[in-house]
Order: sequence, then C-alpha cells, then structure tokens
Amino acid sequence: MAEEIRRNPDGAEEVAEAEVTEASVAVHWSEEEYYPPPMQFIAQANFTDPSIYDRFREEHFPECFKEYADLLDWYQYWHTTLDTSNPPFWKWFVGGQINACYNCVDRHLAQHRSKAAFIFVPEPEDEPHVAMTYQELYVRVNEVAAVLQELGLETGDRVTIHMPMVLELPITMLACARLGIIHSVVFAGFSGQACADRIVDSGSRVLVTMDGYYRNGKMLDHKVKADEAVEAAAQAGHPVERVLVWRRYPRQYQSQAPMVEGRDLFMDELLQRHRGARVEPVKMPAEAPLFLMYTSGTTGKPKGHQHSTGGYLAYTAWTSKMIQDIHPEDVYWCMADIGWITGHSYIVYGPLAVAATSVIYEGVPTYPDAGRPWRIAEELGVNIFHTSPTAIRMLRKADPDGPKNHPNVQFKHMTTVGEPIEPEVWRWYYHVVGKGKAVIVDTWWQTETGGFLCTTIPAIHNMKPGSAGPALPGIYAAIFDDEGNEIPAGSGRAGNIVIRNPWPGITQGIWGDPERFIQTYYARYNRDPNSKDWRDWPYFAGDAATLAADGYFRILGRVDDVINVAGHRLGTKELESAVLTVEEVAEAAVVPRVDELKGRVPDVYVSLKPGYTPSPEIQQKIVAAVEEIISKIARPRHVYIVPDLPKTRSGKIMRRVLAAISNGQDPGDVTTLANPEVVDTIRRMVQGEELAGAS
Ligand code: WTA
Repeated sequence: MAEEIRRNPDGAEEVAEAEVTEASVAVHWSEEEYYPPPMQFIAQANFTDPSIYDRFREEHFPECFKEYADLLDWYQYWHTTLDTSNPPFWKWFVGGQINACYNCVDRHLAQHRSKAAFIFVPEPEDEPHVAMTYQELYVRVNEVAAVLQELGLETGDRVTIHMPMVLELPITMLACARLGIIHSVVFAGFSGQACADRIVDSGSRVLVTMDGYYRNGKMLDHKVKADEAVEAAAQAGHPVERVLVWRRYPRQYQSQAPMVEGRDLFMDELLQRHRGARVEPVKMPAEAPLFLMYTSGTTGKPKGHQHSTGGYLAYTAWTSKMIQDIHPEDVYWCMADIGWITGHSYIVYGPLAVAATSVIYEGVPTYPDAGRPWRIAEELGVNIFHTSPTAIRMLRKADPDGPKNHPNVQFKHMTTVGEPIEPEVWRWYYHVVGKGKAVIVDTWWQTETGGFLCTTIPAIHNMKPGSAGPALPGIYAAIFDDEGNEIPAGSGRAGNIVIRNPWPGITQGIWGDPERFIQTYYARYNRDPNSKDWRDWPYFAGDAATLAADGYFRILGRVDDVINVAGHRLGTKELESAVLTVEEVAEAAVVPRVDELKGRVPDVYVSLKPGYTPSPEIQQKIVAAVEEIISKIARPRHVYIVPDLPKTRSGKIMRRVLAAISNGQDPGDVTTLANPEVVDTIRRMVQGEELAGAS
C-alpha cells in the first residue's frame, strides 16, 4: 500500500505521508447534509438567542458564566468568578455559598410541590409505576438525611452508594448533598471487587446498597456484592463500619446474603425513627466537592473525578434547560444509568435543578422485548428522550420499525451521547424514532467535564448526522496536532480535541492524586508549568476529532481507538460508519490487527439484522463499502460475521477484547461483560478461520 501511495502521480500523498505526525490524520468521509430544527420545536424552545456566542466571547470570560450560575439560588454570591492561582486546579464562584439539594428540591416546592419529580418504572411490566412528587421527594430526602446524621456522618465525609436504578438512589444522593457529604456512586453492574476499590480509594466508612433488583426478568441478588466489597476492602486494610441496605420491597428481604450483626442495617427500619424529620441544608462553599465519579482506567487504579457544588450545578442546570430544553411541564426520559456521569448530570442534578419530571427505568430497554421503551414513552407521555448510540443500534437491530406502530410516541427532542454515532444510525434515530419531527442533539462530553462541551443548540443550529456540533458558549475548543499547533477548521485533518479554557463543570481533580490529574489532562499541552494564566493550560480530552469549515466538531473516538494504516490514521468510528451503510449490518466494530508491512490493518466484526444469514456476499459488500466510502487504504483484512459483539454492562462495545482476539492475544478477564459467552464463540471462529473473510 505504501508503494501505491508513492506512485501517486501528483505526489500529494507522498508529501502527506512524510508529514504524518501523531495527531495529523487523513479523514476520508464526505460531508453530511444539514437537517434544520423543526419549527414546532423552535416555537417552544427555552433558548433561541444566538447572540449568546458574543456574550461568551473570550474577552468576556470568565464573568460570562454568571449567566449560568444565576439559574441557581445562592445563600451568598461569590466574590471571584474564577480563581486560577493554582493551575490546573480551577476554582469557580469562590466565596459563594450554596446547597445542591436545596436547589434541586426545596426551592421547587412553592411552584411544583405536587408535580412529579420522578416517575419510577419497575422492570416487571405488571408492577405499577411510582410517581414521586417534589413534596414527597423533599420529605424522603430529609428523612434519609436524618438517618445519615444519626450514624454520625458529617460534611466532607465520603459515602459509597452501590445501587441500581430505583428512586432510593437519587434520594440517597440528595440526602448526602443536603449535608455536604461527598457521595461516590458505583454502577450497580460493577462487581464487589470494583466497588471495594472505590470504597478504599475514597475512604468511605459507610456503604449504601440494596437487597436486589430486576434485570432481564430476574431478581438479582445485589446485597451479596456488598459483602464481597466489604471483605475486599478489609483485606486492603480499610474497614467499612456500616452497610445500609435498602429493600426493593420494604420489609421483604430479597437477598440470600445474611445481614451482619452490628454492621448491616435496613434503611426502611432506620427510617421509622425519623418519620417527618426535617434537616436544614448545609450552606456549602461553591467549590466544596459534591461527589466523586470514578472512571475505570484500563491500567492502574480507577480515577475518582471530584466535582464541585456550585460550578458543576450551574453548568448542568444551564445545559439541562437550554440544550436538553427541559421545561417543568415536559416528561423527560434519560435511559442512562445514574451510576455513570450521564445519570448524575442529566437525570439527577441538572434536570432537578430545573424542576423536571424524569422517568427512572429499572431494567434493560429490550425487556421483555424491544417495544418496551415505546410503551413506556406512550404511557407516560415522554417528549424528551435521551440515550446512547449503542442503545439506538440495539433497538434498530431488534426492531427496525422502532415506534412506528405507536402513534402516541412523539418526541420533541432526542439526545445521543457517549460514543460517535454513525450517520446511518443517526438517520434511523431521526426518521424512525423521531418520526422526522424531533430535534436531535449529539452531545460530546466526558466524566471529567461534568456536562456537555460540544453540541448544536437545538433551536439555533442545523443538525449534521455524525457531528456533535460547535463548542458550547464559553467553551473554546480546538484541534491540536502533536506539537500543540492548532489545526485549522475545514482542513480535513484530524487531531486531538482540546478545550483551551476552564469552565464551571470541569472536574476539580482526581481524588487523592493531583499529579495524575496534571499528567493525564494537562501535561500534554501545557506551555509553562509555572504559569498562572489559564491560556497556558489547554485541557487534553483524549479524543481524536475533526473540525469542519462550519465549526462543527466530529468526534472520531478515543485516541487509542485510532488505527494507523501505513501512516494513515483511520478512526475506528469512521470505518464502522462505512460498514454500517451495508443494509444487512446491525452493529459493527473495527479493531487494529498488527501487520508487518502497514503497521496496522483493520479487522471488521459485525452482527447482522434479524432475518439475514452470514454469507461471503455480505463480507464482500462490506469490503466494497469500506473501499468506496473511505479508501482502499482502509480495506479490512478480515470481515467476521458474529452472533453478537462483546459489550460492557453499560452497553459499550468492547473493542479491546476483539483486538486481543484479532491479534492472537488473551482477551483477559471478560466475566464482567454483559455477554461473556460470546467471546469464546468469536475466538473459536477467528482462530479456526484465520484465512476467512476478505483476505
Ligand atoms: C466518548 C460520557 C462521540 C468520547 C458522557 C469521550 C462521545 C468518552 C460522545 C467519555 C459523543 C462521549 N460523540 N463520542 N457525543 N460523548 N463520547 O466519561 O470518547 O463515560 O471521551 O462520559 O465517550 O465517556 P464518559
């Protein structure tokens, strides 16, 4: 291939190849067409004022962010909007005093006391929904706060919460926030060991858990994980003093695990002593930590990202109101799990801060069948729908008709988040799920960033399938090459997306490891480690992206997801996008296979839509699509048609596992995957068919 490039008559490729650096990547897709926001949406939108980009120009930074903070009720205004005296540990709204729980609950009582804050949908379809009003939420949060106080917990303590998608999870979080206790929520699907790692790292003396919950039609025993976690933490030298156990059905214990005398307590019993209790919200400094959220490092211990109270809440409130376009009268459903950052920012804190009514669904979207989300949506009148590309692909695969036969499903607004979405899948979301009448926002952000960074503003910008959109007001995003030079818009070259400035939602750092924070996010592009000027501290997000001439960012995926083929870096997402244009393909993953000549070549793994059987013709079509849409450079070495792709419990495709299989390595421990059994099937297939596919 390298030879072919050098023979290119105009020599352009040769020059390009010689100049290839870490971050300069050839990008091979064509521009997608624009979709204007629907008029009905614009007519009711919370935000239609494009002059915001002027108000948030660099010369008005950081004071412009007062506009965000003014959505909140402060006990006391701040004296310093942004303190940059200890970069990159930024402090927002310094001197301000605020309570997150007060802003999410108490202040809505005057106008919305008997409006539902949450509607809980149990997974078993014959169990009724539970609507919880703001008044009820207020009462229950106060009572739980009283329990936490009784146990001696104080402002600044950490509490680990390992709970499924039930109302008691946000109630517990808000009770912590009321007292200034720092919560650390661990996704319920995580093992006892993973929970222990986070307990130890955060130094939590109390673990809050639940006996069990429904998933895929089964009541899972969850309390057993708490016992494993406490034991593993003890082995690591960290004692857990109390385990507080919520019961899925009060007084009916669902777990086989015994309650440990002197350590384990049932929440429903503790609460009896505190009926009607009221606990004053604690006035917290704006920069006090609100919670920790861990990201699992593939190597080393997980990083606990510490989010602030004032800055984080201001940022999630503004984006919930203006980007999610939540009005109090809407019914909003974010399908993410509260155990991830999306759930923290866009189920709990942001939506509650703007008095939303939110759906909390206990189970898996495809239980008992792929029509479940549409039945929930039509029953509850959901008009804002928020999910991930993986969920969209799953629903599309299971039933390409989506909500077509549910005339009462009509979304005004839909969000996609978490991974790049292939234009093909975006169009299905738009035409089939949204019935061509909903606006879509593709929101790019990270655990570290607290809230959205790049997205179209729904009533202002045209949508472009596969592109997140411009950076939000006050976010100065850019694409840097490896030397830190800005790659101009419209150049067609990819590089590392950076944010040149701090913003209120950004993580305050990694709990207990400030050096790792600097190394991971700032060392790459820092211009002077002694500088106190924020301009010298661009934030390195770890994603590759391109910036089109219209100012829209298109995210290619993690920089480690990029495949370098003969000096050409190909985003796995770009390849997957091409593969997904083939009619028969439901889901696709592309991974790098080590190649002697080209460095890396892509291997393609796909699953097919129902009704299709694997055939060499389909493999050939996939190869042809990649060659045609991207280039011959991207020709896959193999196309494997597999029954399903390995996925995490949160639904992300585990490309790492597939890459290991492609490269004859051990895929490692796959027991925590949602479908570990598929790994063996694929491995046998790949090893037994080394010469199969397109080669
Ligand atoms: C990816 C989830 C493309 C990205 C909120 C990022 C996305 C990582 C998008 C963070 C998007 C998130 N388009 N890629 N709209 N949103 N990502 O911390 O690679 O779970 O770095 O936060 O997800 O994942 P995290």
